[in-house]
Amino acid sequence: MMINKHCIAHVNTNIKNNYKVILSRNLISYINDAIESVPEVSKLVLVTDENVYSLYGQSVIEALRTLDYPIMFFVVPVGRKHKSLQTASEIFKFLFKNEADSYTLILNLGGGTVGDLGGLVSALFLRGVRYFHIPTTLLSQVDSSIGSKVSVNFGKHLNSLTLFNPPYAVLSDPSLLRTLPDAEYRSGLAEIVKYAIVLDVELFEDIEYKPELLTDKEQIDSVLTRTIQKKCEIVSADPLEHSIFRLYNYGHEIGHAIEVAYSYHDLRHGEAVSIGMQASAWLGVQTGQTDPSILKRQTTILAKLGLPVNIPAELLNKHDPKKLALELDILLRKDKKCFLRDPQWVIPHELGHASYNVRVKEQLISECLKHVSEGSLPEI
Ligand SMILES: NC(=O)c1ccc[n+]([C@@H]2O[C@H](COP(=O)([O-])OP(=O)(O)OC[C@H]3O[C@@H](n4cnc5c(N)ncnc54)[C@H](O)[C@@H]3O)[C@@H](O)[C@H]2O)c1
Ligand SMILES: [Zn+2]
Repeated sequence: MMINKHCIAHVNTNIKNNYKVILSRNLISYINDAIESVPEVSKLVLVTDENVYSLYGQSVIEALRTLDYPIMFFVVPVGRKHKSLQTASEIFKFLFKNEADSYTLILNLGGGTVGDLGGLVSALFLRGVRYFHIPTTLLSQVDSSIGSKVSVNFGKHLNSLTLFNPPYAVLSDPSLLRTLPDAEYRSGLAEIVKYAIVLDVELFEDIEYKPELLTDKEQIDSVLTRTIQKKCEIVSADPLEHSIFRLYNYGHEIGHAIEVAYSYHDLRHGEAVSIGMQASAWLGVQTGQTDPSILKRQTTILAKLGLPVNIPAELLNKHDPKKLALELDILLRKDKKCFLRDPQWVIPHELGHASYNVRVKEQLISECLKHVSEGSLPEI
């Protein structure tokens, strides 16, 4: 089968099915091939968002129409706030109205918002239907489509309605990134820097030396392949995130709190993670676990890539810093990764190596949140 030629990695899960990650430019010509490899499909349901639909919806639907299945599509409004139970409920209504059954195959065409939402719906509908991730943002290609985590937000509880639900396959096409707005592309770069800091010193050094390996969308394929393959290896070793998969939460402790404090709107996921990584590395330096040179090199690379290393001044103006620090503290302790409200940190000790489940003293966390809310995290 043609599609196998482009398979770059496998994920073993001990949850349900294992799955392949296919990476190929001109993916549309392989979608049908991939769908035909799925046994007993009754209907196809494309879940996408307004932007992606207007860019790629018609060509994907045209390709799918050459197959002999009924096709339906659900278009999610644009905006991260729509990763909600309410939107999931709209999709369930749509599926029931259109008589979707257990043999329905769902195709999530979009970024992490659509992927997480469609993946959760697929898990719950009629005890679970099969689905493909077809990630269209850099962030979703390198990170969110791999690892089987699907979720919606519940109010201020980010990704809190969630489970592990492996896709049937992941189909990634880097040429779709050509239309991605620069700020969204940069947001995905934060996840690559995160990965390099905790697991791949060589990649970090390559990026330091040659940032265009990341910034040039036409050259991104080799970094994508490397990042995806490594993530597949890690999640295969720890599919339920009990151990090393936790390294991927680097920067997400305070990062998530910032994302929610700014209503899922003012800062993109990767931007919030970028600031979160600065906060975690700062904590590492203060506790003597992280060499200060790592914070310095991290700051330099994030800034070079156009990512924030502190909350931007225009956003700081929206909040009183003391109130913001308090809110961040509350949000930080709501996270599912907390043990009795005590955050568990990922702290780098040298480039390419980090520890997870690290506890940090209350007083230091408060000091760190004070810096974050004043925009005064030291940059070097
Ligand atoms: N499940 C996981 O393991 C995991 C990991 C990391 C992040 N996430 C989640 O992912 C979400 C963020 O995902 P995201 O950064 O992909 O954002 P997104 O899905 O919200 O997409 C960002 C924007 O880009 C647009 N877009 C998507 N593809 C495009 C393309 N090819 N061309 C032009 N525009 C395009 C979208 O319409 C949207 O406006 C967050 O909710 C985060 O919590 C999940
Ligand atoms: Zn992330």
